[in-house]
Parts: sequence; structure tokens; C-alpha cells
Amino acid sequence: MSDHRIRKAIQKGWDTMSPMYQRDSVISTEDVHYGPLLPGERDLCLLGNVKDKRVLELASGAAQNSIALSKLGAKAVAIDVSPIQQEAARTHLEDEGITVDLVLNDAQKLCFTDNVFDLIVSSNGMEFIIDLESCLNECHRVLSTDGLFVMSTVHPLSAFAWNNELQALQIQDYFNPPVELWEDVQPYDGQYGLTLFRSISETFTTLVSVGFRVDKILELPAMPIHDMSPDDKKRIPYRGKDWEHRYVEMSKVPFNVIYVAIKES
Ligand SMILES: C[S@@+](CC[C@H](N)C(=O)[O-])C[C@H]1O[C@@H](n2cnc3c(N)ncnc32)[C@H](O)[C@@H]1O
Repeated sequence: MSDHRIRKAIQKGWDTMSPMYQRDSVISTEDVHYGPLLPGERDLCLLGNVKDKRVLELASGAAQNSIALSKLGAKAVAIDVSPIQQEAARTHLEDEGITVDLVLNDAQKLCFTDNVFDLIVSSNGMEFIIDLESCLNECHRVLSTDGLFVMSTVHPLSAFAWNNELQALQIQDYFNPPVELWEDVQPYDGQYGLTLFRSISETFTTLVSVGFRVDKILELPAMPIHDMSPDDKKRIPYRGKDWEHRYVEMSKVPFNVIYVAIKES
């Protein structure tokens, strides 16, 4: 299978899924999120002061994180491959009167010159990148020296099915995690879109091999939604009914893994 067809299938898949994703996920534009039911930047404090920082958001979807960062004073650029996801971003930007540069761009080949960003963030995007090494090389190239790269992606364990009856995760083969094929979305040229689940060691090694120093890796449980008041729940920057139904599983098995990396001099 050719990379081009897979990329196109992923883009077309997101074009199709966008309205449902934006309807079913409640994603805040007031706080940076790191994945469903996780604490946001207000609680995790991974980014430092972003005022006047040049920020690139990769695989930005409807750009909620870029909007939240702009409200904190950052100058944000949001890239994505799906024009429909970017239309959703445009609607948010107009509604909120916020300026973020939206660029239709593949994260594997960035259309920016070297060293132009102080910070790169990405939430729930890397799992759709076929060539992780090219993408991380590009991130390293466009980031300035000492720049920060914070990415949250699916945890390798979230590839496996949760057995409700046993209240346990069923892991068939950790070393060969399944690739999730989007069989309920139309294929493109015979190719289904897909989600890739990478081991933490693979992602860590790739980050280091392109020149990043990895400072932190976070594996966090879902926030305790059932013990939270409605107001406190609203502090969770990424939620929604479908995610809340998966609370038990996500409180025992991490759904996301967050990497905090620095471009060293
Ligand atoms: C799960 S959504 C996440 C969007 C947003 N970061 C969020 O948290 O809501 C994944 C996004 O990755 C984008 N995407 C997939 N492959 C990409 C690529 N090669 N380059 C840039 N964006 C990509 C999709 O179009 C989609 O908008």
C-alpha cells in the first residue's frame, strides 16, 4: 500500500468524521487539552508562559488549542490536512473574534522555514501520521533552539479492547498492536483510513534520534468525573458523553501518553 493513498484516506476520513467529532466531543477553547478526560494545561503546566511565543499546533482539527493559546497571548499557527476540520476551526475563530493562522499542510512536510517557532503542540494527531520520523524531523527543523515540543498521542495500550464483564483489558500481543482500520468510513481508492498505535519506546527513540531531549513522559488516568461537581467537570477541557461512558476503562488504563521534549543546542 502506498503512503500517498493512506494519507489521502486519512484526510478524507477526517473530512467525513469532522461534523460528528466536533458534535460529540466537548473541547474547550479556554484551556489547552491533552486528550479526553485528562487535566488540561491549567493543571499540568507543561508549556510555561506562552505570551508572545510563536506557536505551531500540528493536526489541529478545529484549532481549540490554538485559540486557548492565543487567549494566553501566543501567536498561533494551526495546521491540518482536512479542509473540513479547518472549516470548523474558522467557525470557532469567527465566533470568538480570535486570529489564528490556519494552514492546510501535512505534518510530514511542513511549509515553514527553519527555526521559526518557540513551541509546537499537538494533541491526538500523531497517531494518524504514517511517517513519524519525517514528521518529528520537520518539527525539529522549524523549532528554534531550546524550543519546546509537547505532544499527546494515543497510548499503546488503548489499542486493545476493554472487556466489560471481566473489567480488564484484553491484550493479545503487546509487541504487535492492532492497526485500527476505519471500516465504517468510506475507503479512498480502496484504502481505509487508519490509526497507528506506537509503543512508548518507539516514539521516545524517534524523538531522540531526530535530536530532541525528552524531559517528561506522562501517563495519566481519566479525571474522577463521577466525584466532580458540574462546575468542576467543566474544567476538563476535553470531554463528552462517549468518553464519559468509557470512564472506568480510562481511569485504569491510560488513553493518552504525553511527551515533553526540547530541541537542544
Ligand atoms: C483526533 S483529530 C485531533 C484534532 C485536534 N488536535 C483535537 O484534539 O481535537 C486528528 C486530526 O489530525 C489531522 N491529521 C491527520 N493526518 C494529518 C497529517 N498528516 N498532517 C496534519 N494533520 C493531520 C486530521 O485531519 C484531524 O483533524
